[in-house]
Amino acid sequence: MRVALGVGGGIAAYKSAELARALAERGAQVQVIMTAAAREFVRPLTFAALTGRKVVTDLFPASSESEALASAVEHIGVAQSNDLLVVAPATADLMAKFAHGLADDFLTTLYLAFPGPVLLAPAMNTNMWRHPATQANLELLRGRGHAIIGPEEGELACGMTGPGRMAEPAAIAAAAVNLLNRKRDLEGETVLVTAGPTREPLDPVRFISNRSSGKMGYALAEAAAARGANVILIAGPVHLPDPPGVKTIKVQTAQEMRDAVFANLEPATIVIKAAAVADYHVANVPQQKLKKTAARISIELDPTPDILAELGQKKGDRLLIGFAAETENLRQEARRKLLTKNCDMIVANLVGQEENAGFESDTNEVVLLLATGSTVSVPPSPKREVADRILDEALKLRLALHAAR
Ligand code: CTP
Repeated sequence: MRVALGVGGGIAAYKSAELARALAERGAQVQVIMTAAAREFVRPLTFAALTGRKVVTDLFPASSESEALASAVEHIGVAQSNDLLVVAPATADLMAKFAHGLADDFLTTLYLAFPGPVLLAPAMNTNMWRHPATQANLELLRGRGHAIIGPEEGELACGMTGPGRMAEPAAIAAAAVNLLNRKRDLEGETVLVTAGPTREPLDPVRFISNRSSGKMGYALAEAAAARGANVILIAGPVHLPDPPGVKTIKVQTAQEMRDAVFANLEPATIVIKAAAVADYHVANVPQQKLKKTAARISIELDPTPDILAELGQKKGDRLLIGFAAETENLRQEARRKLLTKNCDMIVANLVGQEENAGFESDTNEVVLLLATGSTVSVPPSPKREVADRILDEALKLRLALHAAR
């Protein structure tokens, strides 16, 4: 395994020397890239001695023009010859540059040219970490599928106590190895994912919808794509960027979602219905905006098509995964949906109560109910990690179901 290790300019840079060694101990060839700020904290020689390789420092370090030209394209070479990019410490400045695609030195240029997985270990002062700008950048980087480890809570070099300390080198090295070992185990599969809410119009300007953010479904689409699947994502109205490498189809209503699902079902081998589909809609939406009167009004609603139940009837040998968002009797309700909708798995989560689970949250705590009768609890984790657990269990479940046939 070949790892490019980017070292940013923070006090934690000294811990990256230990990280370089920990990676080398795990059999990695490590190419260290230091920013100018990093070199204020640790000398390149330290890393060169630990990795047995020259450390890359500048984008244009050359004395002659031909050397300058060679170095100008070197970041492409480094980008192409490494399997993983680890950045530790990832400073607030580096995170901002990565998030917005600024490329003014070797490391930021390498980041843009690097096609493989990226692992970031942020480290900074607590206030910098909590600043909305840093948190927004973090969100962008997460959304791009990068793995983030830490920061941890503790006493910081600046004297403050709080989140900001870089994760321990051994933990970062272990995360790096895990990332590289992640199998492309969905190669050759087509995964159809639905995500987000649906929007059912009441008149030309008003609608009924729900609090689904689409984050869980998008995380599933990204995770499946990262594992090699061909992914079709059918999404209701959400404020999320289209995941790279995924065919995204935007819909509004439950009926549109149903039609898009069945138009794209043919190639699918796994179907995951993460969308929070509205259960009711107005049958004949008025052409004009409803006018206010002093009287109470009532609206008649008709049921929408139950897409999951119809899929349950037509799934063939596809693996069908539904979701159950419940406010009470979680397992009982989820088990009922598993059976009545003929699913192979239900991902159940409690909504409306906890802060760290459910609709708008970045993390989720779920229980997986399987058609084999077993149950798997997934502790509160970032939605991308939950997505990978769901895919892990889905593949195991398919093997178990086939063996039982
Ligand atoms: N679902 C669907 N079509 C609908 C309603 C729900 O495909 N019209 C799917 C959702 O995508 C989800 C699962 O069914 O995977 C469960 O959704 P949920 O709203 O929890 O269940 P409902 O069947 O609507 O049951 P209830 O409202 O009684 O809890």
